[in-house]
Parts: sequence; structure tokens; C-alpha cells
Amino acid sequence: MSSMKQLRFWVNGEVVEEANVSPTTTLLNYLRYHLHQTGTKEGCAEGDCGACTVAIIDPDAPNGPTYRAVNSCLVLLPMVQGKEIVTVEGLKQGKQHHPVQEELVQALGSQCGYCTPGVIMSMFEACYRDDLNEDWKLDDQMCGNLCRCTGYRPIMDATRKVAGTRPNDRFVEALDKAESRSMDLVYEHGEQRYFNPTTFDELWDTLDKHPDARFVVGGTDLSLEVTKQFKTLPLLVSLEGIRDLKRLESSEDEWHLGASVVLSDVEAAVSSTLPALERMLRFFGARQIKNRGTVGGNLCTASPIGDLAPVLLSLGAKATLRSRQGTRQISLDDFFLGYRQTALQQGEILDSIQVPIPRTQDQDIRSCAYKVSKRQELDISTVSAGLYVRLSASGEVETARFAFGGVAATPARASLVEQAIVGKPWTSETLEQALPLLEQDFTPIDDHRGSAWYRRKVASNLLRGFFLETQNEGQPRLPYRPTGTVALEVTS
Ligand SMILES: Cc1cc2nc3c(=O)[nH]c(=O)nc-3n(C[C@H](O)[C@H](O)[C@H](O)COP(=O)(O)OP(=O)(O)OC[C@H]3O[C@@H](n4cnc5c(N)ncnc54)[C@H](O)[C@@H]3O)c2cc1C
Ligand code: FES
Ligand code: FES
Repeated sequence: MSSMKQLRFWVNGEVVEEANVSPTTTLLNYLRYHLHQTGTKEGCAEGDCGACTVAIIDPDAPNGPTYRAVNSCLVLLPMVQGKEIVTVEGLKQGKQHHPVQEELVQALGSQCGYCTPGVIMSMFEACYRDDLNEDWKLDDQMCGNLCRCTGYRPIMDATRKVAGTRPNDRFVEALDKAESRSMDLVYEHGEQRYFNPTTFDELWDTLDKHPDARFVVGGTDLSLEVTKQFKTLPLLVSLEGIRDLKRLESSEDEWHLGASVVLSDVEAAVSSTLPALERMLRFFGARQIKNRGTVGGNLCTASPIGDLAPVLLSLGAKATLRSRQGTRQISLDDFFLGYRQTALQQGEILDSIQVPIPRTQDQDIRSCAYKVSKRQELDISTVSAGLYVRLSASGEVETARFAFGGVAATPARASLVEQAIVGKPWTSETLEQALPLLEQDFTPIDDHRGSAWYRRKVASNLLRGFFLETQNEGQPRLPYRPTGTVALEVTS
């Protein structure tokens, strides 16, 4: 089968075919400067403000076709190959505004109006979601939309009114009719090339011809090189079109997280079985970022402050790597080799992550995750932690996995502290005796987010908080509070 050579996608129901723009053109710029649909705004061009939010239909979402609010400033045009996009211009029907527009007007939710199109599009996703059943989920839905002048109360009042209402309209009809189309594409423009292979064989063939190609999936990391560093990125291979990398499934014992699964789907899927992972994802970026950012994208950057690594390390996850030769499985501990360096070899990709499910009824497992950053929402971790202990029937530590981000060149385990407590009773005395070993476990950096002293101090305090917090509930769920918060029952 010959591959598609041109871009083909739909905007507000109209097909768009394009063969003459750079593949690193962002969807935002294409909407504004090529289609002259200027309702969608640019604020930051780095995924922080939400002014550029549009909705994309995902026909293959785990619970059926759904709208996903995304930051169009970080979406490169080939990423919407075969997809249907809804922008703020597409909501009105005749003279009738969409209910989300009506409600925002009624709540006086707009002043200068610059943020408003983005706010509307996040509310639009909320309108068609059926899982916004807790108040913190509304905050999570809207936290990626900054507003300088209206104030968030009216915006949240309007959102509360429309969330989950799912009017029986043409947008529901569009979901019912949504087709799962191939993303297949071999696109060339000047010196730039962009490939969307849809099978592993096509991927390996592409890599044989272009061994220097860079991978991309959601683009929430890589697109910043375009929008902030103005790089050309001559050769990109997207892994987004390969369906097998989007498998998200569990057995009784284990979750299989395909490398290209988006984080909002992971967050929803694991809430009852991996509360520590859900808790970390609540404070991972904003809804628009989690709707595009993937498991593989987060781990493969091997950032020392990537938020998935500590919690997955603490849960004892394994990584499956895939190349033309087949697959190999390694412990996630062996995946991070050095600063931004992974165990992936040339021609090899991350296929998936396997996460053992701690049996939630067991009182002998304590597991939690914490993220400490300067702001609650949308901030980079200063220190993050995934902490896990398994106790014997008589209360001694059988297994300890204490993993931290922000304290070393890679996400790392506090091995000396772990070793010092194994076999000992799980008490605050045991912990206090072991904590000085953190000095030898890590040599944190000093930077504007925190001094080395501060980072070590926070790491010790998170371990203390973990000990206290998990006394009553082995795997506490606190997705509605900052993850650095420890929930304690105060007894007088
Ligand atoms: C506003 C904003 C907020 C953010 N907040 C957070 C946060 O709170 N916590 C956090 O940890 N991160 C955060 N990020 C970073 C980013 O969103 C995440 O790391 C995300 O998971 C990246 O996934 P992606 O698919 O978008 O990666 P991409 O940008 O598509 O790819 C990133 C890199 O991973 C490689 N890659 C991807 N998949 C594979 C694979 N299967 N095999 C081999 N290589 C692969 C690519 O080659 C590329 O170099 C944020 C980013 C932004 C812009
Ligand atoms: S322009 Fe700010 S998030 Fe896209
Ligand atoms: S109404 Fe002015 S930024 Fe929100």
C-alpha cells in the first residue's frame, strides 16, 4: 500500500488537504495564518496558558469516541492526520450559541476575552465528559486555562453548570459517527520530513533508511524545540499511528501501559488499583497536556524531574523495549543510565510499561506519591517521590522502594536507606535511624527551584510524612489536594 503524501484532516466539519507547509507548523499557526480562523489565540506558545485550546475527536479512546481539549500551540500539523478538530468558531449553530458559551455569558465569565476561546474549549470537553463526578475533577479540567482579568469563580460556576450535560446535539452525533482513520503519512517539505508509520514493519523500514530520525508522540516535550528554540527538526518519526503502542489493559496482577497511551487515560484507568499513580497524575501538567502527553514521552526524555519515573520505580515497574529483532524486558531501574540517557539502543523504542498491582486489600502494603513544587498546578517538580513498603505479618519491612526525582542526575532510588530498614520493624525509630543515609544516597543540585540542602530536607520529610500518612490507610488517595500534603487524623 502506498503511503499518504499529503495532510488530510477536518476542521469544524470541513476537510482540509495540505501539501505545502512545513511539518513543524503548529496547528495553532495553521488555524490562524492559513485558515484565518483567528478565534484560537496564542498566549505563551508553550502549553501553559490554554488560550490556544481546541478539541480533537479521539475515536479510539478507551470508553469510546471522545473530545479531547489540547493545546494547539504544541500540536504539529501531521499529528492531526485523519483527525477531526473543533475550534471555537465551530460551536455556534446558526444564531444559536453553544450552551457552554451561553453559560459563560450568564456567569459574567469574560472581561478582556483573550482567554475566553480557550476557556470555552476546555468547557466544551467538560460538557461531553461523563466522569466529572467530583469537584476536584472540575478544577483539574480547567487548571490549564489562565485568566488574567475575570477571576476564576465565574468561570468555574459556568463550568459546573455545563459539565457532563452532553446535550443531544450535532457534537454527540459527530462522536457517534467518528471513524478511526489511519494516520499513515510520509510527508516531505523542503529539507523536512515527517513520517507516521502505522505498523512496526513500516517503522523499522523507516528507521533503516533514516537512522538519525527523532521520535515524537504527543509532542508536549519536543514541540517546545519548535516554538521556543525555533529549531527546524528535519526528520521526525511519529509513533502515534501504531495502535499496538496504545494498549492500556490490566490483568489481576499487572497493568500494561502502552508507551503511546495518553496520561489522562492512564489517570482514569488506574484510579482504583494504583492510587499512587493517580495521585501523581492529578498534579502532572494540565488536562490539555495530559490529553497529549504520553507514558513513553515522559520516560524516554529521562528527565531527572519527570514525574512518572519515581512513582513507577516505587511500584516495581518493568519496561518492555522493542526493535526489529523483537522485544526485551528490563527493570525500570535499569532504564535510566545517566542524565537524559536511557537504555534504548539505536533502532529501539519503548514499547510499554508493566506495573504490578499492589493488592489493595492487603494491610501490609504502603504506597504513595508526592510532588513538591512552587505552585500546585502546572509546575515543575522541585522534588517528587514514589514510596512503597511491604511489611511481613509481624510488621517488619520485607521490601522497600523509595524513589525520588529532583535529587540526582536521573530519577533514583534511595538504596542505602532502603537497605537499612529491610528486616527491621516499620517504626519511626527505624526510619529516623536510616534517614541520615540519604546524604550518601543523593547529591542533589542547587538551582533556582531549590538548594541541595532543601532538596535533601524535603526528601527526608516526605519519607516521614509517608510513614505517618500510611498508618491509617496503606494507599491513600488524595487527588484533590497538593500531592506534597500529608493527610493526618488529629486526635486530641
Ligand atoms: C505545560 C507543560 C506542563 C508539563 N508538566 C509536566 C509535569 O507536571 N510533569 C512531567 O513529568 N512532565 C511535564 N511536562 C512534560 C511532558 O508533557 C511530559 O514529559 C509528557 O509525558 C511527554 O510526552 P509526549 O508524548 O508529549 O512526548 P514527546 O514530546 O512526543 O516526546 C518526548 C521525547 O520522548 C521520545 N519518545 C517518546 N515516546 C518514545 C518511545 N515509545 N520510544 C522511544 N522514544 C520515545 C521522543 O523521541 C522525544 O524525544 C509538561 C510539559 C508542558 C509543555
Ligand atoms: S498558547 Fe499558551 S498554551 Fe498554547
Ligand atoms: S477575560 Fe481577560 S484574560 Fe480572561
